Amino acid sequence: MSTLPTPPDRRPRILLLNASLAGPAGNSSRLLAMLAPRLAAQASLDRAALAGPCAATFASLEPNLHAADAFVFATGTHWDSWSSPLQKFLEDATPAEATSLWLGKPAAVLVTEHSTGGKGVLSRLQGVLLTLGCALPPFTGLVLSHAAQLARQHAPAGGAADDLWRPADLELVAHNLLAATLAPRPAYRAWPVDRADFHRPWLES
Ligand SMILES: Cc1cc2nc3c(=O)[nH]c(=O)nc-3n(C[C@H](O)[C@H](O)[C@H](O)COP(=O)(O)O)c2cc1C
Repeated sequence: MSTLPTPPDRRPRILLLNASLAGPAGNSSRLLAMLAPRLAAQASLDRAALAGPCAATFASLEPNLHAADAFVFATGTHWDSWSSPLQKFLEDATPAEATSLWLGKPAAVLVTEHSTGGKGVLSRLQGVLLTLGCALPPFTGLVLSHAAQLARQHAPAGGAADDLWRPADLELVAHNLLAATLAPRPAYRAWPVDRADFHRPWLES
């Protein structure tokens, strides 16, 4: 792993958020376990899962989210979308939209799928995180597909299957997330949002 300068004051904190339906028993957990060693040399890692025996919620995680300097979100693909616990988390996070909890903090997104829909999940989830206020470093979003994994197992090396995402790409995700996390954060500003009553019905007959 290539090394990056660490700020002298403290190691950055990265929150690994496992949004699997299966909590610690799912593929997202396995993927985060593959990524973690690539981050741990230069960052302190905090872990949480949104399902399973120790399921966290947005409310229970708020202190960890504030303390984090960067995030990694991992989810499966479920009917072309991210997991229902992650949807609930994002809905509950709405009051924190455009606040310092998110503003300018780098976020990586890891998606798994059987065969299809994962890239749409990745792109839309990155869009949501950007709208909350996160920064998206280049090449920090990937989709690992069971179908692609099978294709690679049966394809010749150096062929078209080499273009498919693979677990080894986590190396680059880790590098770029660390590069963004260790760099001084730009002085971003947030636009105003409705914090008073965003649940208010607006449809007039
Ligand atoms: C309810 C449900 C819906 C799913 N929908 C899709 C889908 O639309 N596309 C797909 O490729 N895989 C789909 N899958 C497979 C999962 O995305 C895949 O196994 C993923 O790795 C699960 O991640 P997790 O174990 O971290 O939850 C679905 C799985 C479940 C349980």
